[in-house]
Amino acid sequence: MDNIKNTSLLSILCEPGELTLAIDNPADGSVVGYIPLQSETEIDECIRKSRLAQKLWQKRPAKERSHFLYRWYELVMENQADLARLMTLEQGKPLAESMAEVAYGASFIQWFAEEGKRAYGTTIPAHTEDRRLMTIKQPVGVAAAITPWNFPIAMITRKAAPALAAGCSFIVKPANQTPLCAYAVVELARQAGMPEDLLQVVVHHSPEKVGDIFTRHPMIRKLSFTGSTRIGRQLIAQSAETIKNTSMELGGNAPFIVFDDADIDQAVQGAIASKFRNAGQTCVCANRFYVHDAVYDQFVSRFIEAVKNIKVGNGLEEGVQIGPVIDALAKERILQKINLAVGQGATIATGGESLDGCFVEPTVLTDVQHSMSFLREELFGPVAPIVRFSNDEQLIHQANDTVYGLAAYFYSRDITRIWQVAEALEYGMVGINEGIISTELAPFGGVKQSGFGREGGQEGLEEYLETKYLCFGGIN
Ligand code: SIN
Repeated sequence: MDNIKNTSLLSILCEPGELTLAIDNPADGSVVGYIPLQSETEIDECIRKSRLAQKLWQKRPAKERSHFLYRWYELVMENQADLARLMTLEQGKPLAESMAEVAYGASFIQWFAEEGKRAYGTTIPAHTEDRRLMTIKQPVGVAAAITPWNFPIAMITRKAAPALAAGCSFIVKPANQTPLCAYAVVELARQAGMPEDLLQVVVHHSPEKVGDIFTRHPMIRKLSFTGSTRIGRQLIAQSAETIKNTSMELGGNAPFIVFDDADIDQAVQGAIASKFRNAGQTCVCANRFYVHDAVYDQFVSRFIEAVKNIKVGNGLEEGVQIGPVIDALAKERILQKINLAVGQGATIATGGESLDGCFVEPTVLTDVQHSMSFLREELFGPVAPIVRFSNDEQLIHQANDTVYGLAAYFYSRDITRIWQVAEALEYGMVGINEGIISTELAPFGGVKQSGFGREGGQEGLEEYLETKYLCFGGIN
C-alpha cells in the first residue's frame, strides 16, 4: 500500500474472493484492500487456543508481562505514521486526528504496562485469634471484545492492554469497516514478542454471529463492548446464559451547557473540539447545546463563524479538519435527522447541505426546543443543535432528561455553581470548561443506558481481575 513503510503490518491483505471482506475508503469509495473472513469453526478454534495461551500467560510474573506491553507501546509509537495513514484510509478521519489517535491508543498500553504491576490484594484484620484473612487478584481468563469503527485502534488498546496486563488473553472482533488497524496493531504486539494465540483478531461476515459466539461460549469469561445501546442490550441479554462478566461502553447524548458567566471564547473553542472531533462520530461528542439567554447571541454568532471556517475533505489532504462520515448509510441517517429537526421547527443556521460522497457539511441548528424529539437520540455526525435557556434549575432537569449518561460539559466561572452542577449532572464523566476529556489516566465510562464498567485509570485494570478471598485457619 502506498507510503506504508512497515509492510509487515498488512500481511493479512489477500486477493478478492468469495470468503473475503473488502474494506472501502469512505473518502472516495475506493477499495483499500481485502482480508480473509473466518468461519464459525475457525472462531471457535481461536477461543480454544486463547484459553491455552491464557493459562501460560497468567503464570508469568506481572513484571515480565509489563516488559512485553512496554515493547508493544514502543513499536506502536515507532509505527505511528504508518498506522495513522492506514486509519485515515479505512476510517476517513484527518491525518492529524489519526496521528493523535495512535498516540492515544498507545498511551493505554504504556499506562497498563505500569498498572499491571499494581494489582494488589489486601490483608484483612481477622475475626478470631487463629485465623488470617487476605485477598489476591487473579485474571478473569479469556477476554473478548467487540470494538467500533470510530476509534479503530484506541478502542482496542484500551481493552487489550489492561486485559493482558492482568494476565488475561484477548480476542477482538473489530468493526467490519475498520479491521486493518486491528490487524496492524495486533501484528505489532506479536513483533513485541507476545505469543500468537494470546492476542487474536476475528472477522466474520456477520458481526451478530460473532456476538452470539462470544456471549454464549463458556471459555470466554469476559466481554467488553463499545458501541450502541441497542446492541449492548442484546449482548447483555445473550450473556445471561453463561453469566458472563461484561463491560459496556454504550451510546451518549451529551449536553454542552454555556452559562451566563462563561468565558465565551473558551466555550466556543471547547464546543468545536467536542462536537466536531471525528466528524461528530464519538460517543462523548456534544450532542445538544444549551446556551444561557444572556450570552446566546454572542456564543451562537462566534460558534457559527468558527464552524464556517472548518475545512472538510479527504483526510489525507493538508489542513483538512473534518473527513467523511463512515459510510453512505451513516450520511443518510445524519441528513434524515437534520430534516427531522427542520420539520420540528429548527432552523439551519449554517451547513445542512449534502456534499458529494460520504461528506456532511458541518451544521448548526438554532430555534431548537428541548421538547423536540430529534434531541432524544445521538446525532453521531457534525450537527450542533442549540437550545436557549434562562433558568438554571430547569436546565439541569433538561440536561438529565435522557436515558443516556455518558458525558456532559459545561462552562462557568462561578465555583459554587461549578460544584453544584458537576454534582447534579447524572453522567459518568463531566467536562468543566473543557471539551476534550479523554485520557488514559482517568476512568472512562457511563451511567444509566450508557452502560457500566470503566476503561483507563486505575479502574480499567479491575475490569479484568477477580478478587479471591483466602482464609487461613489453625494459626495458634
Ligand atoms: C468514544 O467514542 O466512545 C470514544 C471517545 C474517546 O475515547 O475519547
